[in-house]
Amino acid sequence: MAVFCTLPLLLHLVGLLPTFSAVGINYGTLGNNLPPPKTVAQLLQSTLIDKVKIYDSNPQILQAFSNSGIDLIVAVENNHVANLSSTKSAAEDWFSARVAPFIPATSIVAIAVGNEYLATDDDSLDPNALIQAMQNLHEVLLSSGLDRKIKITTPHSMAVLATSFPPSASTFATTLMPTMTSIVTFLADTGSPFMVNAYPYFAYRDNPTTVELEYALLGNSTGVHDPKGYVYTNMLDAQIDAIRSIHITVSESGWPSKGDSDETAASPDNAKTYNTRLITRAQSNKGTPMKPNDKIDIFVFALFNENKKQGGASERNFGLFNGDGSKVYDVDLSCEFCSGSKMEFGFGPGSKTIQRGPSVWCVAKPHADERVVQGVLDFCCGPGGVDCREVYKNGGCFMPDKVHAHASYAMNAYYQMHGRNYWNCDFKGSGLVTFSDPSYGACKYSQQ
Ligand SMILES: *[C@@H]1O[C@H](CO)[C@@H](O)[C@H](O)[C@H]1NC(C)=O
Ligand SMILES: *[C@@H]1O[C@H](CO)[C@@H](O)[C@H](O)[C@H]1NC(C)=O
Repeated sequence: MAVFCTLPLLLHLVGLLPTFSAVGINYGTLGNNLPPPKTVAQLLQSTLIDKVKIYDSNPQILQAFSNSGIDLIVAVENNHVANLSSTKSAAEDWFSARVAPFIPATSIVAIAVGNEYLATDDDSLDPNALIQAMQNLHEVLLSSGLDRKIKITTPHSMAVLATSFPPSASTFATTLMPTMTSIVTFLADTGSPFMVNAYPYFAYRDNPTTVELEYALLGNSTGVHDPKGYVYTNMLDAQIDAIRSIHITVSESGWPSKGDSDETAASPDNAKTYNTRLITRAQSNKGTPMKPNDKIDIFVFALFNENKKQGGASERNFGLFNGDGSKVYDVDLSCEFCSGSKMEFGFGPGSKTIQRGPSVWCVAKPHADERVVQGVLDFCCGPGGVDCREVYKNGGCFMPDKVHAHASYAMNAYYQMHGRNYWNCDFKGSGLVTFSDPSYGACKYSQQ
């Protein structure tokens, strides 16, 4: 879908870049009647567009945009990805020949490695080459000290999702899960944007009887409802949130109880320790440092030792149980992991667990509507009786000066004051009970 003149969507999903909204444009050059690059640069300089994405590293374009005040995103074409994935020096050669000569005069802010690489129907493209090429290029940037200025990313097609509706239930396609997981990790580690090519047009074209045109046209349609309560008046928003709401599930993790002679850590004791901790962690509703409030579903690998598995001895000894149902070692799958509550252990998503641990807080949902959240804040600090001095100027929770952050503080105080019943953290659907302490720095969230 290398369509000339479509707006690229730069989704700062992961990473620590400041959020900004910019209007960029894709500058495709598959035409024999297009103006020369210098003319294009001049044309764009007279517009509000300040970012241009191209589909290759055409030196005339890179030259034309020098000292233009316009940021450029250049690309490695799909059929060059394998070459760059082969060795770091291949990536170095590409970078020195294609990009280095033009900086700093040309402001190159990102390199898009491939385009919809994982969704092309070109069988000659090896999916594993993508992340390797990205890593090789990133290393080149690191060694030249350019990694902060130039980000490495790869634009995806919406086809990387198994389903994109409802947005809150979207997941990556199962076959792409391992690849997407390493890409998302890479982007997060390097502070690079997750890019997606989102075209309501194609969704409409392919389903004109079910998709309302106004909905596809960024109009103000009557709206499509997500079961989580979000209302989408246009499809682009829904497509963006489909990507945003991707949540990571650890689809396999475990530890073997036995291995070959060189696998000394493969022992029943270590397996018991790891899997006990893994299960406790899965039960704890704990996120990760970057997403502390996002609970992660974890699938323990595996239920059984599988004696016909290929590979080293450990491959056949990841199980908690032998084939006959006897335990390989003692891992308690019952309530001992439940920190004193009455709940059944369940594997992964869908397991119904009621957490009543000793520490629970209430915060605003990250995507809750700002007007609702503002209303909740006003209520808590007014009739709700919460002492909101901490969120006012000079208070410990004033920064970040964001309505969601202030409301979270007030909602939690209200929830704690009223006995921590789940209905005291509803707030018209904008509240969320969390099991990790939202306190930071001087901002202390109260708890009972
Ligand atoms: C990669 O491309 C360069 C330049 O086109 C070429 O010299 C090199 O042999 C290629 N390497 C591989 C592994 O294909
Ligand atoms: C969209 O429609 C709603 C309800 O009809 C209206 O309140 C709102 O102002 C409209 N928004 C725009 C941007 O037209």
